[in-house]
Amino acid sequence: MNVRLAPSILSADFGRLADAVQLAEESGADLIHVDIMDGHFVPGLTFGPQLVASLKKRTKIPLDVHLMVDNPLATIPWFLEAGADWVSFHLEASPHLHREVGLIKDQSRKAGLALNPGTPIILLNEILMDLDYVLIMTVNPGRGSQKFIDGGLDKITRLSQWIAGLQLDIPVEVDGGVNLKNLESIVKAGARMIVTGSAIFGAPNPAEVIRQMKAIAGKAART
Ligand code: DX5
Ligand code: ZN
Repeated sequence: MNVRLAPSILSADFGRLADAVQLAEESGADLIHVDIMDGHFVPGLTFGPQLVASLKKRTKIPLDVHLMVDNPLATIPWFLEAGADWVSFHLEASPHLHREVGLIKDQSRKAGLALNPGTPIILLNEILMDLDYVLIMTVNPGRGSQKFIDGGLDKITRLSQWIAGLQLDIPVEVDGGVNLKNLESIVKAGARMIVTGSAIFGAPNPAEVIRQMKAIAGKAART
Protein backbone atom coordinates (compact mmCIF):
# COMPACT_ATOMS: atom_id res chain seq x y z
CA MET A 1 0.00 0.00 0.00
CA ASN A 2 1.35 3.43 -0.96
CA VAL A 3 1.70 6.08 1.71
CA ARG A 4 -0.67 9.01 1.28
CA LEU A 5 0.42 12.42 2.52
CA ALA A 6 -2.32 14.72 3.81
CA PRO A 7 -1.08 18.23 4.67
CA SER A 8 -3.27 19.84 7.34
CA ILE A 9 -4.29 23.40 6.50
CA LEU A 10 -4.74 24.07 10.23
CA SER A 11 -1.22 25.48 10.21
CA ALA A 12 -1.61 27.45 6.96
CA ASP A 13 -2.43 31.15 6.69
CA PHE A 14 -6.23 31.20 7.06
CA GLY A 15 -6.39 34.27 4.85
CA ARG A 16 -4.80 32.34 1.99
CA LEU A 17 -6.16 28.82 2.32
CA ALA A 18 -6.79 28.35 -1.40
CA ASP A 19 -3.10 29.13 -2.04
CA ALA A 20 -2.05 26.57 0.58
CA VAL A 21 -4.24 23.92 -1.02
CA GLN A 22 -2.86 24.70 -4.48
CA LEU A 23 0.72 24.55 -3.22
CA ALA A 24 0.08 21.20 -1.52
CA GLU A 25 -1.52 19.72 -4.63
CA GLU A 26 1.28 20.94 -6.93
CA SER A 27 3.94 19.57 -4.57
CA GLY A 28 2.57 16.03 -4.57
CA ALA A 29 0.13 15.87 -1.64
CA ASP A 30 -2.38 13.04 -1.97
CA LEU A 31 -5.14 14.57 0.13
CA ILE A 32 -5.90 17.83 1.92
CA HIS A 33 -6.58 17.34 5.64
CA VAL A 34 -9.23 19.72 6.97
CA ASP A 35 -9.57 19.89 10.76
CA ILE A 36 -13.08 20.70 11.95
CA MET A 37 -13.13 21.74 15.63
CA ASP A 38 -16.34 22.69 17.41
CA GLY A 39 -15.05 24.36 20.57
CA HIS A 40 -16.71 21.65 22.72
CA PHE A 41 -15.24 18.26 21.88
CA VAL A 42 -11.92 20.06 21.59
CA PRO A 43 -10.94 23.53 22.82
CA GLY A 44 -10.28 24.88 19.32
CA LEU A 45 -12.82 26.30 16.87
CA THR A 46 -12.07 26.21 13.16
CA PHE A 47 -14.01 25.71 9.93
CA GLY A 48 -17.53 24.89 8.82
CA PRO A 49 -18.96 23.15 5.75
CA GLN A 50 -18.94 26.34 3.65
CA LEU A 51 -15.16 26.35 3.71
CA VAL A 52 -15.04 22.69 2.68
CA ALA A 53 -17.40 23.44 -0.23
CA SER A 54 -15.18 26.36 -1.33
CA LEU A 55 -11.98 24.33 -1.15
CA LYS A 56 -13.62 21.48 -3.03
CA LYS A 57 -13.89 23.78 -6.05
CA ARG A 58 -10.20 24.69 -5.82
CA THR A 59 -8.58 21.26 -5.89
CA LYS A 60 -8.75 17.94 -7.69
CA ILE A 61 -7.26 15.90 -4.81
CA PRO A 62 -9.61 14.49 -2.16
CA LEU A 63 -10.54 16.41 0.98
CA ASP A 64 -9.87 14.44 4.16
CA VAL A 65 -12.22 15.96 6.72
CA HIS A 66 -11.41 15.23 10.38
CA LEU A 67 -14.41 15.99 12.56
CA MET A 68 -13.47 16.85 16.12
CA VAL A 69 -17.05 17.50 17.14
CA ASP A 70 -19.48 16.39 19.85
CA ASN A 71 -22.36 15.49 17.56
CA PRO A 72 -21.06 13.66 14.50
CA LEU A 73 -24.50 12.28 13.59
CA ALA A 74 -25.85 15.81 13.05
CA THR A 75 -22.67 17.20 11.54
CA ILE A 76 -21.58 14.53 9.06
CA PRO A 77 -24.38 15.27 6.53
CA TRP A 78 -23.25 18.93 6.26
CA PHE A 79 -19.77 17.86 5.27
CA LEU A 80 -20.95 15.16 2.88
CA GLU A 81 -23.10 17.79 1.21
CA ALA A 82 -20.06 20.10 1.05
CA GLY A 83 -18.10 17.48 -0.87
CA ALA A 84 -15.86 15.84 1.73
CA ASP A 85 -14.28 12.71 0.22
CA TRP A 86 -12.83 11.08 3.33
CA VAL A 87 -14.66 11.73 6.61
CA SER A 88 -13.44 10.73 10.05
CA PHE A 89 -15.15 11.34 13.37
CA HIS A 90 -14.17 10.46 16.93
CA LEU A 91 -15.01 7.18 18.61
CA GLU A 92 -15.18 9.08 21.91
CA ALA A 93 -17.90 11.38 20.55
CA SER A 94 -20.56 8.86 19.62
CA PRO A 95 -22.46 5.92 21.10
CA HIS A 96 -23.79 5.06 17.60
CA LEU A 97 -20.69 4.35 15.55
CA HIS A 98 -22.38 2.10 13.00
CA ARG A 99 -24.95 4.77 12.27
CA GLU A 100 -22.38 7.44 11.41
CA VAL A 101 -20.24 5.02 9.41
CA GLY A 102 -23.35 4.05 7.45
CA LEU A 103 -24.18 7.69 6.72
CA ILE A 104 -20.75 8.20 5.19
CA LYS A 105 -20.62 4.95 3.24
CA ASP A 106 -24.15 5.40 1.87
CA GLN A 107 -22.79 8.44 0.04
CA SER A 108 -19.87 6.36 -1.30
CA ARG A 109 -17.33 8.35 0.70
CA LYS A 110 -14.51 6.90 2.81
CA ALA A 111 -15.45 6.40 6.46
CA GLY A 112 -12.82 6.72 9.16
CA LEU A 113 -12.87 6.50 12.92
CA ALA A 114 -10.48 8.65 14.95
CA LEU A 115 -9.04 7.63 18.34
CA ASN A 116 -7.56 9.97 20.92
CA PRO A 117 -4.17 9.01 22.37
CA GLY A 118 -5.73 7.59 25.56
CA THR A 119 -8.36 5.50 23.75
CA PRO A 120 -7.47 1.81 23.40
CA ILE A 121 -7.62 0.20 19.94
CA ILE A 122 -9.55 -2.77 21.32
CA LEU A 123 -12.64 -0.53 21.20
CA LEU A 124 -12.48 -0.93 17.41
CA ASN A 125 -13.23 -4.63 17.72
CA GLU A 126 -16.85 -4.60 16.51
CA ILE A 127 -16.50 -1.88 13.89
CA LEU A 128 -13.06 -2.31 12.34
CA MET A 129 -14.17 -4.29 9.28
CA ASP A 130 -16.76 -1.63 8.42
CA LEU A 131 -14.19 1.15 8.26
CA ASP A 132 -12.24 2.48 5.29
CA TYR A 133 -9.48 3.89 7.52
CA VAL A 134 -8.55 4.46 11.17
CA LEU A 135 -7.11 7.76 12.37
CA ILE A 136 -4.72 7.45 15.29
CA MET A 137 -4.18 10.74 17.11
CA THR A 138 -0.63 11.09 18.36
CA VAL A 139 -1.36 14.38 20.15
CA ASN A 140 -4.44 15.35 22.10
CA PRO A 141 -6.61 16.99 19.44
CA GLY A 142 -7.40 20.68 19.57
CA ARG A 143 -4.43 22.49 18.12
CA GLY A 144 -1.38 22.10 15.91
CA SER A 145 2.35 22.20 16.75
CA GLN A 146 2.25 19.73 19.62
CA LYS A 147 4.80 17.04 20.37
CA PHE A 148 4.23 13.45 19.16
CA ILE A 149 3.14 11.45 22.23
CA ASP A 150 5.47 8.59 23.11
CA GLY A 151 3.57 5.35 22.90
CA GLY A 152 2.03 6.35 19.59
CA LEU A 153 4.45 4.18 17.65
CA ASP A 154 3.55 1.08 19.62
CA LYS A 155 -0.15 1.77 19.12
CA ILE A 156 0.34 2.17 15.35
CA THR A 157 2.32 -1.07 15.25
CA ARG A 158 -0.30 -3.05 17.16
CA LEU A 159 -3.17 -1.72 15.05
CA SER A 160 -1.33 -2.31 11.76
CA GLN A 161 -0.49 -5.87 12.76
CA TRP A 162 -4.08 -6.52 13.79
CA ILE A 163 -5.39 -5.24 10.43
CA ALA A 164 -2.77 -7.20 8.48
CA GLY A 165 -3.62 -10.35 10.44
CA LEU A 166 -7.24 -10.01 9.36
CA GLN A 167 -6.08 -9.45 5.77
CA LEU A 168 -8.03 -6.19 5.64
CA ASP A 169 -7.05 -3.26 3.46
CA ILE A 170 -7.60 -0.46 5.97
CA PRO A 171 -4.96 2.28 6.08
CA VAL A 172 -3.88 3.63 9.44
CA GLU A 173 -3.76 7.43 9.38
CA VAL A 174 -1.49 9.17 11.87
CA ASP A 175 -2.21 12.73 12.97
CA GLY A 176 -0.24 14.94 15.33
CA GLY A 177 3.39 15.87 15.79
CA VAL A 178 4.64 14.24 12.58
CA ASN A 179 7.81 15.83 11.20
CA LEU A 180 10.76 15.07 8.93
CA LYS A 181 12.63 13.40 11.79
CA ASN A 182 10.02 10.94 13.06
CA LEU A 183 8.24 10.21 9.75
CA GLU A 184 10.36 7.21 8.82
CA SER A 185 9.67 5.38 12.10
CA ILE A 186 5.95 6.18 11.87
CA VAL A 187 5.69 4.67 8.38
CA LYS A 188 7.79 1.68 9.42
CA ALA A 189 5.35 1.12 12.29
CA GLY A 190 2.63 0.74 9.67
CA ALA A 191 1.09 4.18 9.03
CA ARG A 192 -0.14 4.56 5.43
CA MET A 193 -1.77 8.00 5.68
CA ILE A 194 0.25 10.81 7.16
CA VAL A 195 -1.17 14.11 8.38
CA THR A 196 1.25 16.97 8.89
CA GLY A 197 0.41 20.57 9.68
CA SER A 198 3.08 22.70 11.31
CA ALA A 199 6.04 20.73 9.91
CA ILE A 200 4.83 21.71 6.42
CA PHE A 201 3.11 25.08 6.69
CA GLY A 202 5.37 26.35 9.47
CA ALA A 203 8.45 25.71 7.33
CA PRO A 204 10.09 28.35 5.14
CA ASN A 205 9.56 26.17 2.05
CA PRO A 206 6.42 24.04 2.47
CA ALA A 207 6.63 22.60 -1.05
CA GLU A 208 10.10 21.25 -0.37
CA VAL A 209 8.97 19.62 2.90
CA ILE A 210 6.10 17.91 1.08
CA ARG A 211 8.48 16.53 -1.54
CA GLN A 212 10.92 15.34 1.14
CA MET A 213 8.13 13.72 3.15
CA LYS A 214 6.81 11.88 0.11
CA ALA A 215 10.30 10.56 -0.60
CA ILE A 216 10.95 9.48 3.02
CA ALA A 217 7.55 7.84 3.37
CA GLY A 218 7.79 6.02 0.05
CA LYS A 219 11.21 4.62 0.91
CA ALA A 220 10.21 3.62 4.47
CA ALA A 221 7.15 1.76 3.19
CA ARG A 222 9.29 -0.31 0.81
CA THR A 223 11.86 -1.40 3.43
C1 DX5 B 1 -4.79 18.39 15.80
C2 DX5 B 1 -5.25 18.18 14.38
C3 DX5 B 1 -4.13 17.93 13.46
C4 DX5 B 1 -3.14 19.06 13.34
C5 DX5 B 1 -1.78 18.45 13.30
O1 DX5 B 1 -5.89 18.48 16.65
O2 DX5 B 1 -6.15 17.10 14.27
O3 DX5 B 1 -4.60 17.55 12.17
O4 DX5 B 1 -3.30 19.85 12.20
O5 DX5 B 1 -0.86 19.46 13.39
P1 DX5 B 1 0.69 19.17 13.60
O6 DX5 B 1 1.16 18.40 12.40
O7 DX5 B 1 1.28 20.54 13.71
O8 DX5 B 1 0.82 18.37 14.86
ZN1 ZN C 1 -6.55 16.31 12.12
